[in-house]
Amino acid sequence: MIKLKSIDIRKTPVNALIILASEDKPLYTDRTVTTLITKARQLPEFKGAEGDRIVFYEHAGINARRLILLGTGKTASITVAKLRKLAGKAVRAAMDNDLKKIEILLPTRAKLPVTPEETSQALTEGACLANHRYDAYKKDKKHPPLKEIVLIAPADKTAALRRIARDVQTICRATLTARNWVNQPANDQSPALLARAIKAQAASRPLTVQIMSEKTIRQHTMGGIEAVAAGSQNKPRLVIMHYTPPKAKCKVALVGKGVTFDTGGLNLKTSGSIKGMQMDMAGAAAVAAAMTAAADLKLPLHLTAALPLVENMISGNATRPGDIITMHDGQTVEIGNTDAEGRLILADAMAYTARKHKPDIIIDMATLTGACMVALGENIAGVFSPDDPLTEAILAAGEATGESCWRMPLPEDYQKLLKSNLADISNISSSRWGGAITAALFLQNFVDGPRWAHIDIAGPAHTAKAQAFCPAGGTGFGVRLLIDLLRRLAA
Ligand code: BES
Ligand code: ZN
Ligand code: ZN
Repeated sequence: MIKLKSIDIRKTPVNALIILASEDKPLYTDRTVTTLITKARQLPEFKGAEGDRIVFYEHAGINARRLILLGTGKTASITVAKLRKLAGKAVRAAMDNDLKKIEILLPTRAKLPVTPEETSQALTEGACLANHRYDAYKKDKKHPPLKEIVLIAPADKTAALRRIARDVQTICRATLTARNWVNQPANDQSPALLARAIKAQAASRPLTVQIMSEKTIRQHTMGGIEAVAAGSQNKPRLVIMHYTPPKAKCKVALVGKGVTFDTGGLNLKTSGSIKGMQMDMAGAAAVAAAMTAAADLKLPLHLTAALPLVENMISGNATRPGDIITMHDGQTVEIGNTDAEGRLILADAMAYTARKHKPDIIIDMATLTGACMVALGENIAGVFSPDDPLTEAILAAGEATGESCWRMPLPEDYQKLLKSNLADISNISSSRWGGAITAALFLQNFVDGPRWAHIDIAGPAHTAKAQAFCPAGGTGFGVRLLIDLLRRLAA
């Protein structure tokens, strides 16, 4: 719970006041605060360098139980990314110490490299995203999230900054929802259960949700979804969500890969690579959560989400390598490898959505390839699109949110690597190189008409180690990126 208030720290008691201190110029205009910072900087252990931290338990003129000074480094080096991290670390430290409430004092000095709006946005984001723990399966729920985080803003700015903080909180809450879905183990999150959870999230909002059963999926000849789901007892679902505000600038379809567990199928993954594959629905989670946030923010866009949910398992019914299937758009696919399942379910969902809902733009988000992680590492998503302006908008959204994206090529002449002797196309490349690209090229064959971009989030969807404002596990990557992108498309 984040609140933005303008309180007088001389009078109103505060619990744990977070104050930012740079290495050089003061960030605050308040004399009492400046005196405190000067006092701290006289000590050898605190110079205001990035990562510096010092706690006081009293300071004349401020009614605080704790005063926590955090170093920012040189004033000129302050960025939104740095502020996000600082707020995140402050909240994590407060959680570790079992505090219930902290107060963050917004810098007031004019001419900082970040505006007051950017500052309160970044601090709210970092604080809100850090204030989360996935402990659904723990008996001892240790170090719970803080009950209250207060941003203290100058009186003349409260109204505008409060609006920003409220919207940021809406988006961050959706990010936390996506994280919870990604973290939920696959034994408690079959396609049917995930579909129900998504519907429950949408229920209180101006969103319609249609859950297509296995029977309906079959009636629509979605051979890709059927083939991937064939080996599992847990039947597939296709979730279609709509958001149709009265005023809409354009029609965007978001498609998210929802593999609730990816064993690889008969091309079974090894023990090292099968571990953690409950996160293979992170694309669907990000899209569904972004839909709820878009509705809460009343974005002026017509949105459709298509979420193919399946479990990629092995059994006597599992799809074999060499099987040939017929996709929703009529193309036949030779299954070269059952572990290249994401592209099969996405292709059906995209072809269906394009035909049925005629969007102007389709964006798909998927934990699609290990090859994309090899190329870009764990923190950067790959963006594949033949559309320059759309790609630019995604990259800009990545810059703004800190959910980093990098453009990857879609070379026409690599299409030949997907040739099949027997079917229209193969689901794997004949080359062992460039796997993220050939996966994207496969998808491109199923997008006929709308502008399209594919975002491979295999790396950033999950983090093995805790980060400044994200504990280990699902990151919710993509929610903030999509909302920022949608705002750009609506502008
Ligand atoms: N879900 C995986 C991709 C993945 C790998 C996501 C690691 C997150 C972390 C995907 O379905 C897959 O298995 N892709 C194969 C494709 C190959 C068989 C052509 C891969 O990347 O190895
Ligand atoms: Zn796979
Ligand atoms: Zn997969």
